[in-house]
Amino acid sequence: MEKPRLFLSRALFDDVHSRLAEEFEVEVWDRYQAPPYDVIVAKAKEADALVTLLSDKVDCGVLSGARARIIAQYAVGFDNVDLSCATNRGIYVTNTPDVLTEATAEFTWALIMSVARRVVEGDHFVRYGEWQRTSTSWHPTMLIGMELKGKVLGVVGLGRIGRRVAEIGKGFGMRVIYWSRSKHEEAERSGINYASLNYLLRTSDVISLNLPLNKETWHIINSEALKLMKRSAILVNTGRGGLIDTDALVQALRDGMIAGAGLDVYEQEPLPQNHPLTAFKNAVLAPHAASATYESRHGMAELVVENLLTFKEGKIPPTLVNREVAEIRAPGFSRGDLNPMQPSRGITKAAV
Ligand code: GLV
Ligand code: GLV
Repeated sequence: MEKPRLFLSRALFDDVHSRLAEEFEVEVWDRYQAPPYDVIVAKAKEADALVTLLSDKVDCGVLSGARARIIAQYAVGFDNVDLSCATNRGIYVTNTPDVLTEATAEFTWALIMSVARRVVEGDHFVRYGEWQRTSTSWHPTMLIGMELKGKVLGVVGLGRIGRRVAEIGKGFGMRVIYWSRSKHEEAERSGINYASLNYLLRTSDVISLNLPLNKETWHIINSEALKLMKRSAILVNTGRGGLIDTDALVQALRDGMIAGAGLDVYEQEPLPQNHPLTAFKNAVLAPHAASATYESRHGMAELVVENLLTFKEGKIPPTLVNREVAEIRAPGFSRGDLNPMQPSRGITKAAV
């Protein structure tokens, strides 16, 4: 029996490609840059399955003419995929939760610590000669930051990542509150207490955004929300750029309405080098790298494989996002559906 055709929008790991090649005709987009939109459209028409990244736009234009039966997204977030369009067309969409929880939560803390203790600013102070120019090795008020013990951590969104960020906050001796769509009994039992969003914004010293991006969460941090925050508060975002109204944040930093920000995600990625955010010493800017550990990124790839292989066996993939799709079409690539076009052996590189 012919193997189903699989298109990967970026190279993952060699061992993962080999594993996939046992079961699929694999084609890999082998450039560092994302494939252009029309390549995704074309590949969705040819391939039976697609592996996509958060930077690939998978809208109805891609999905409506698609032969692909499954979009195996290599990310926990899937706001780049038009889910209802996929569901209507019987296309399965999977993501990669859990495996990146630790990496993302740890990085959230890297940002919190960097802003609270001015780590990047201090590095620049040393590296660009400012320390030497002060002609003093130590001064009582040099680079004073914020101590975390006893302060309030407000976690916005208590999914897996938010939960882990909250737990680490407990370790720092912080009082931890959260706001989420639903209350979490287990978190409450470990002293992570529910608060209204307004209360959280007004009382937190550190605010961490750990939400998915959707219509309800878009610009959840706007100018009104920023006005509620303490002037001493630190805002950290490792979720999605669209959670924050960037212009409002720039204005808030300009006006000293908050003490600082740690950002990994932006409304525009890559963030332009001359973006207004880059002017603020109290903003630590990371390049959407929170899940970037080997454990996490390889685990994400393994979960993609597991989702694809389970689907191929005609079973519901372990991290299916659009559960309702199973009522529209059974999982699997039935034989008659396979694309008969030019089967090749092993792994091919996409023409560039
Ligand atoms: C990264 O941002 C992800 O959603 O996995
Ligand atoms: C992702 O793992 C989340 O739900 O926070």
